[in-house]
Amino acid sequence: MKGLYMRIAGKTLVALTLALGLAACGSPPEDKAADTAASDTAAPAAATTAAATTAAAGAKPAAFAQCAACHSVEPGKHGVGPSLAGIYGTKSGELAGYTFSEAMKKAALTWDDATLDEYLTAPMKKVPGTKMTYAGMSDPAARQEIIAYLKTLK
Ligand code: HEC
Repeated sequence: MKGLYMRIAGKTLVALTLALGLAACGSPPEDKAADTAASDTAAPAAATTAAATTAAAGAKPAAFAQCAACHSVEPGKHGVGPSLAGIYGTKSGELAGYTFSEAMKKAALTWDDATLDEYLTAPMKKVPGTKMTYAGMSDPAARQEIIAYLKTLK
């Protein structure tokens, strides 16, 4: 009886090892397939996926962690950068209680989808002389998620 058990257990182990081995071998081609699918379907699909993820999470997009290093989202609570509460639709460099750079004060931008998208892509290009020393967010889908999130901040 014990011998039989051992044999079954042994077989199970072999089967398991095989299955694991197969799974491990199987993953690189799968990843490649996923990559190809992603690049083939391009930006709209990526944006949809990103938006769906955010909606499911119900709040802060993961990419916002980069902004949170310098920006709070609580009204009036400025850090290295100004609070981003209620930023959408305001004029650049006008939030009370924060000392903006001359460049930002003179930029005279209204923070809407277009200006935010350009600024977040390359802050120091859009507003030369800005003291937001952030290289920029190159992923368009991540920028869209962040802008959508900024709109929800009151
Ligand atoms: C290294 C710190 C830092 C990071 C990271 C950073 N910012 Fe800033 N941000 C600043 C500073 C400082 C200013 C003020 C700029 C000035 O006065 O020139 C600013 C200004 C802004 C403004 C303009 C505010 C206004 O009232 O005109 C927006 C919008 C903004 N940041 C959004 C973001 C977003 C979104 C991210 C993430 C993608 C981000 N920032 C990442 C430091 C940062």
